[in-house]
Amino acid sequence: MKPSPVPCRPQDLGKFEIVQRDGAARLGRLFTNHGILETPALLPVVNPNILTIEPRSLWEDFGFKALITNSYVIWKHEKLRDRAVNEGIHELLDFPGVVMTDSGTFQSYVYGDIDVSVEEIVKFQCDIGVDIGTMLDVFGRPDMTREEIEEAVQLTAERAKPSLKAADSRIMLNGPVQGGLHQDLRAQSAKMMAQSTSGHNGFSVHPIGGIVPLMESQRYRELIQAILSSSSNLPANRPMHIFGCGHPMLFPMCIAVGADLFDSAAYALFAKDGRLLSEEGTHRIESMKEWPTHSTHISGHTPEQVRSMSKPDRTRLLAMHNLEVTQRELARCREAVRSGSIWSLAERRSHSSPYLREAFLEIINGQSDPEQPSSIRMQSIIRSTDPVRPSSEPLSDDILSRPHIIHAKSLLLQRWRPPGSWHDGSTGPPSRVIVMKDGNPPWRTSQWPTVQRALAEDPRTVVLIDTQIGLVPFSLEDLSPWCRIEGSFGQKTEDAVAGHYAADLETMGLGAVPVLVMRPEDAEHEQNKSISDWMERCSLVDKLAVLCGVSPTIGCEITNGVRIRRSNTNRPVNVYRDEAHFLSPRLNDGGISLALEGARAIHNSMKLGEASDVVGERKIMNRDHPGIPRVTIHPDAVPYVGAGRNVMHGFILKADPWIIVGQPCLVVDSDDNLIAHGISNATSDEMELMLKGVAVKVRDGALPKDGANNAAIDS
Ligand code: GUN
Repeated sequence: MKPSPVPCRPQDLGKFEIVQRDGAARLGRLFTNHGILETPALLPVVNPNILTIEPRSLWEDFGFKALITNSYVIWKHEKLRDRAVNEGIHELLDFPGVVMTDSGTFQSYVYGDIDVSVEEIVKFQCDIGVDIGTMLDVFGRPDMTREEIEEAVQLTAERAKPSLKAADSRIMLNGPVQGGLHQDLRAQSAKMMAQSTSGHNGFSVHPIGGIVPLMESQRYRELIQAILSSSSNLPANRPMHIFGCGHPMLFPMCIAVGADLFDSAAYALFAKDGRLLSEEGTHRIESMKEWPTHSTHISGHTPEQVRSMSKPDRTRLLAMHNLEVTQRELARCREAVRSGSIWSLAERRSHSSPYLREAFLEIINGQSDPEQPSSIRMQSIIRSTDPVRPSSEPLSDDILSRPHIIHAKSLLLQRWRPPGSWHDGSTGPPSRVIVMKDGNPPWRTSQWPTVQRALAEDPRTVVLIDTQIGLVPFSLEDLSPWCRIEGSFGQKTEDAVAGHYAADLETMGLGAVPVLVMRPEDAEHEQNKSISDWMERCSLVDKLAVLCGVSPTIGCEITNGVRIRRSNTNRPVNVYRDEAHFLSPRLNDGGISLALEGARAIHNSMKLGEASDVVGERKIMNRDHPGIPRVTIHPDAVPYVGAGRNVMHGFILKADPWIIVGQPCLVVDSDDNLIAHGISNATSDEMELMLKGVAVKVRDGALPKDGANNAAIDS
């Protein structure tokens, strides 16, 4: 028997922590009285009158840590109601984990009016001891007029306060978002539901409602639009639940755009109808000869044997298969979030159905109106994605749609600048651009001899590499994603440079410079130290600019006179200034790890530099190079963080909006004194809202390691 869950600490009840993330996709922990629910997770729908699979078996055999049932169905049936009130919902269902209940809204959508009041159904959910209840929202059907949907959104919002009051913090409550197909109404509904409070209490979870009819008719494009537009106004510190979504094929795309929880009766409904779920679709067993999918439940049988079973046995077996596939795909999605490949998984799954493909293409291409809530949300997803990652980048037609690649490209175009001084000591603008074609990464091996010769010939040459995802300066040749593309590099025509890249060259400040195309030649070469030293310095300056927002002028100043220690394979591993460790280039993804001396130098340069712009309350250098982002922490946290402990959510006073998840940041106190430096683990919005989890993974505390500081920590 699996152990019963341990209740969370009372002070943590209802909190949500993000443990790992890939853009909007996140692995979270929701704190409840029946254990910490790890997300993304699906809650199987359990009808207490028809138990296709017993809840105990969902817990023991399938590993479901939460389920959902309907409080209105229980409330309507006297016997169930009495038992639920007397024994509690967990006892009634024989389920030790998290129990979420719905409120009867779906019944009112299917059967018309229902006879329970807004307060009554919430109080009932409290009385039967559910973990997460749901208020009685108004279902907005896609076929309703705009006026009707407006009314549903308004009425749902009006019911929020009395529902929260009725819950009286005895249970956590779902605050559903309605709005039908209208993006503006979705965004408005999300805002009103997110802001609703009674006393200090707000909703704990926000489900996206009114979408079942979209899924039933495979209108996935509109489904994803509804999710994106709703989430444009949902707070990052509350999980987003997708009501009624249980087809495994949909999980990767929904998770990629931020879904944390799902619930569905699909496993049982499809089983009753003789259908198997798989990651790629639904399969009728009617005339099947062999299994197109697999699970431990069907593997001992042939389709014919299953067809000849009694209806209840067949339904049970197919339901068990469906649950196993569901759990398997969720595990795959969670692993994809860990490895930074959720978007590639969504991309692959999008080929499962033409409607899903349409939805995917709409996300990539359809955000033509930047004012639409779904476009605003997509932009924030891109900004919240770590642009640099060590994993390989499989080449596909959709490669340019991956948010981290879009983010990396936009940072490059915004922040990279052509060098102003050259390896021969001359200064001034470049005289030519050389576009290197046809080599495979690592380019330092395949292209360096040719590049070095070109630089020797004319020092004022900017060398760019023509990659499948666009031009990248040679100084960033080892930076992911450009250096990680996997697949054939093929041949491209010279026209591509003139036509396709003209806009990029213009943005990079190279629009008026003559362009020459070159291919790597196999040639013996001798290392020219002054050229390779200059290129290495360019690499440091460019990475500080692109990844940390440090202006190239400051980058040049602070890297003047640095000394580089190399590996056996001649790659730079540590950079020193005045014999102090300044930074280390990251060999696995081409990023940089600051050391304390580097953090200090950048921090000082920001104090000394002349501010030319203001963002929020901060004076910044300029918008393209606002300086390395800073996180200002609460005085209580200063001694701990200054000694090297991580910055925890809940201790942050403010954070610069240009923080990039996964990239370096500084930690300062309210007077802008350097307290530590580290890698940010959250966006600035999350830093403002979240109360649990690590906000900055600290690399070095900056406070003196003396007794006074240690005493402050120990006390
Ligand atoms: N179940 C499926 N859709 C909905 C919805 O919009 N609201 C509620 N409360 N439950 C649902």
